[in-house]
Amino acid sequence: MVACGSGVGSASVDPRDVGPASGAITWYAINFGPAGLPERLIDAFEEEHPDISVEFQAAPNNTDTVRATLTTEISGGSGSIDVYSGDVIWPAQFGAAHLAMPLDEHLPEDFWERFPEARAAVTEYDGEHVAVPLFTDVGFLYYREDLLERHDLPVPETWEELAETAAALQDTGEVPYGYVAQWANYEGLTVNWTELSAAAGGHSVSADGEHSEIDSEANRRALDFMRGLLDDGIAPPAITSFQEPQSLQTFTEGDAAFHRNWAYAYGDANNPDISRVAGKVGVAPMPAFEGREAPGPSGVGGWNLMVNPHSEAIGAALAFIEWMTGPEAQRMLAENGVIPTASAVLDDPGLQRENPVLAAAAEVPLVSRPAATPRYPQVSYGIFTNVNGSLAGSTEPAAALRSAAGDIQRALEDNAL
Ligand code: GLC
Repeated sequence: MVACGSGVGSASVDPRDVGPASGAITWYAINFGPAGLPERLIDAFEEEHPDISVEFQAAPNNTDTVRATLTTEISGGSGSIDVYSGDVIWPAQFGAAHLAMPLDEHLPEDFWERFPEARAAVTEYDGEHVAVPLFTDVGFLYYREDLLERHDLPVPETWEELAETAAALQDTGEVPYGYVAQWANYEGLTVNWTELSAAAGGHSVSADGEHSEIDSEANRRALDFMRGLLDDGIAPPAITSFQEPQSLQTFTEGDAAFHRNWAYAYGDANNPDISRVAGKVGVAPMPAFEGREAPGPSGVGGWNLMVNPHSEAIGAALAFIEWMTGPEAQRMLAENGVIPTASAVLDDPGLQRENPVLAAAAEVPLVSRPAATPRYPQVSYGIFTNVNGSLAGSTEPAAALRSAAGDIQRALEDNAL
């Protein structure tokens, strides 16, 4: 189904005429939460909206791949996807390229009051909301509680302590690796980098978004440390190709003492059906570097819902995003270990008691990626390719940061043209 042929820059649908809240829509989304959660959400939605049917189309696991697919499809004028899950880092790029429909005209002003202000703000581009917040991801440190207890070791609060503790546990022969995370050549590495850099007091881009600040002493400390974990055998060599599923699997197979991942990993790591270390996993805030305030900041991620401007069922798509951000859907997310975006559910003490990660997510310091620019994909590419190259051993850390600085600066300046 291709909507009347318009390309980038001109939505094919008159924004005031959204059509009826009925019909069939397709939702394209990266999987989230335990298996089957998106389908259960759809069932509950369809029960309340018998005139709308939703088809779930599972997207690949890598956010970069999903972005590439959507950019090609939507800029080519296709309306076959009506609504899609979009990464929190996309609104500037998607808004600028007219890949997501501006929503303010269609949603009541008080709609946005259901979210914390900061979470709603990251769905804006150029003063307009181009997405609605669906769920939030927050980074945590997972650890083998059983091993720490057996050897009377505390949960590390600094990265240096983590390296020492990991090496000590590896020396006992009970666990082959000390630390696993997402250090592959993709967006997830930018998240991991942003956490480690911030834990050392560094930034990749200046606060005003105009300059690269990646080539700094604090960032050399962070990158040297990451390289050190590999050189010392604390991180497995394969970590430079690990995305979320591979690092999680290494940890759930019992092959690593510590693991950085998103909030949902807590449920998976403690689920006996899929984890050999179920019941033995603790969760802590991210470490800081020695001499800096602990805990270190957790990277923020998450997904929004966005509407394809070429959809021919925008009325139905709007009803769907309204319901998905309402109390019933948001409660289903929270009950399944996914951090909701609606304040009423997020702040529910009962839900927080049931899942320690929900409570912890509300307390840890956070750090966001510098995604306010439409050129963020190029900025992030400059970060992750250079950092990954250095971790994989092809460039020295100092040279990698210099090269990243050049790439980031060029990306930011292109944007100003
Ligand atoms: C998660 C986060 C997303 C991030 C991605 C990186 O899906 O929600 O924001 O970009 O991981 O792998």
